[in-house]
Amino acid sequence: MTEDRIRLIQPVVGEEELALIDEVLKSGHMTEGPKTMEFESKFAEYVGAKHGIATTSCTTAMELSLRVLGIGRGDEVIVPDFTYPATADVVRFVGATPVLVDVSPESYNVDAEHIKEAITPRSKCVMPVSLFGNPIDIEPIEDLAEENDLYVVEDAACSAGARRGQRRTGSMVDLTCFSFHPRKIITTGEGGMVTTDSDELAELARSIKKFGMTAGAGGISTFARAGSNFKLSDVLGAIGVVQMSKIDEIISRRQELAGNYDELLDRVSGVVPPKVDDGVRHVYQTYAARITVEKVRDRLISDLEKKNIETQIGTYSLHMQPSFSPVPKSGDLETARMLFENLLAFPLSHYMTEEDQEFVVTSFKELLEKNQANG
Ligand SMILES: Cc1ncc(COP(=O)(O)O)c(C=O)c1O
Repeated sequence: MTEDRIRLIQPVVGEEELALIDEVLKSGHMTEGPKTMEFESKFAEYVGAKHGIATTSCTTAMELSLRVLGIGRGDEVIVPDFTYPATADVVRFVGATPVLVDVSPESYNVDAEHIKEAITPRSKCVMPVSLFGNPIDIEPIEDLAEENDLYVVEDAACSAGARRGQRRTGSMVDLTCFSFHPRKIITTGEGGMVTTDSDELAELARSIKKFGMTAGAGGISTFARAGSNFKLSDVLGAIGVVQMSKIDEIISRRQELAGNYDELLDRVSGVVPPKVDDGVRHVYQTYAARITVEKVRDRLISDLEKKNIETQIGTYSLHMQPSFSPVPKSGDLETARMLFENLLAFPLSHYMTEEDQEFVVTSFKELLEKNQANG
């Protein structure tokens, strides 16, 4: 495939996915079935969790997780301000209140100190986000959660395959939620997964995601509770099965590309590459570097686009979005604002070459210097 544009990300899909989709279509079984079940068990095993429950997206995976824990009206859920809106929206969707807290300027993730300041007698749950492929610093968060009797639901939309030491994202907290949107590590087009070690929570999740159903006698379903429909079609489950055979190769390639950027950007002033703690397997769903020159990031995105280089912001600072103006905040959320305004996501496509990366960084340097000179 030849394309002039250097893309932010490109899904790694091809003939193998097509062959398995073909099998599903010919089987006549297109709703959730054996292929999605196979995807669930392969994914759960990969992240070291006992159960995987597939959903239609990470957003529905997070809503399902909160419903499983019985979180609703009157409850507060602590959410980082620097994330995609879905993390806080699911809290509102179940009738609870998100409380927005600031993040660390180095990891871009929420830390235990910020969470601690936001705890009230109404706090029921904390939803840390392992942003851009960088796993949360779990130990201080789990100690705090235990001391304060809080559930932990991790938004790991971007972090399939991440690890902190021996601990794998997907088996560190009560319930972990993943995304298979095309901008994520592996993709099924749209799709998500909840992973958990708890038999009880898994059983409840499976029931709620399927109309509140439980297996009844003689093959007749019983509806035990209110539920919804978050099932993942076998057409998409088949893509997931194939993607699992590629996940480590995809991550290795992303790490290699990120290492090249680290070296290339080291020679450019005005930009700070992402920081990774020792012993962490960062999977680089996004390579987000911080521009230290204020108010040039947006112009850089449009100028780079003119050179056929696709870049993006990191993610959003929720309190700056109109939809979140009535939502309670803890602290000044200044780091989230600064990251929202100054992070630049560099193209990290599986298929890009080292020459492409050199062209990206040379163009970036030239445009940064030009924009700086123009004030
Ligand atoms: C941190 C984070 N959480 C949740 C989501 C939502 O994922 P999905 O599109 O699978 O619902 C995204 C999507 O970009 C995200 O970046």
